[in-house]
Amino acid sequence: MVVKRFATFGRRHALVAIGSAALVPIAPFAAAASRPNRRRPQPGDILVHAFGADASRPIATEEVGDAPMAAFPMAPATKLVRDGSLHNQLTLVRVVPSALSAKAARFAVVDGDHAYLAYSAACTHTGCEVSGWNAEASRLVCPCHGSEFDVTDAAKVVNGPAPKPLAMLEMTISQGFFEVAGGFSRRVGPEPL
Ligand code: FES
Repeated sequence: MVVKRFATFGRRHALVAIGSAALVPIAPFAAAASRPNRRRPQPGDILVHAFGADASRPIATEEVGDAPMAAFPMAPATKLVRDGSLHNQLTLVRVVPSALSAKAARFAVVDGDHAYLAYSAACTHTGCEVSGWNAEASRLVCPCHGSEFDVTDAAKVVNGPAPKPLAMLEMTISQGFFEVAGGFSRRVGPEPL
C-alpha cells in the first residue's frame, strides 16, 4: 500500500508527543475560542487553498485532481480565512459519481463527470490531521495510528482505531468555485473525554 502525504500543518499547528508516539495539534485548541478565524465554516464561505504559495486563493473545481487538496473556508466579504483551527481544515476530494455510496452522495456536489466532497481533516480518534492518501483504495489515512477512511463511502472507517467517520461539509459550486452550503454531517474531530 502506498500512502502519500498531501497536506501539512500551518505555522500555528504545532505538534506535541503524547505517550508513546501520538502526535496531536495543540496550539489551535488552546487559543481563545473567540478569535474570528476559529469560527466554524459559514454558509456562503468560499473554499481556499490552505497552504503554500497559493494559500488563501479560492480553489477552482478544475484544480482538484486525483489527489486530495487541503482547504480552509474564507468569508468572501472580508477575505477572512478561517484557518485558526484544525477543526476548520477541509480535505477536498474528487471521485467518480457512480462510485459514491448513498450517504456520500447526499454531501457530494456533482459537476460534469466528477463528484466532489469536503471532509474534515480532523481525525475522530485523537484529533490528528488526516494527511495521508492511499490512491489505490481511495482512502484518507491518518498518520498517527493508521486509521483509514473510504472517501467514496462517507469516510467510513475501514482500518485503524478511529471510532467514527470523518465529518462531511455541505457545499455547492458557484461560478466554478466551492461554496459552503450548510454544516458538518457530524461532530468534527474526536468525542470529548
Ligand atoms: Fe489516531 Fe488518527 S488520531 S488514528
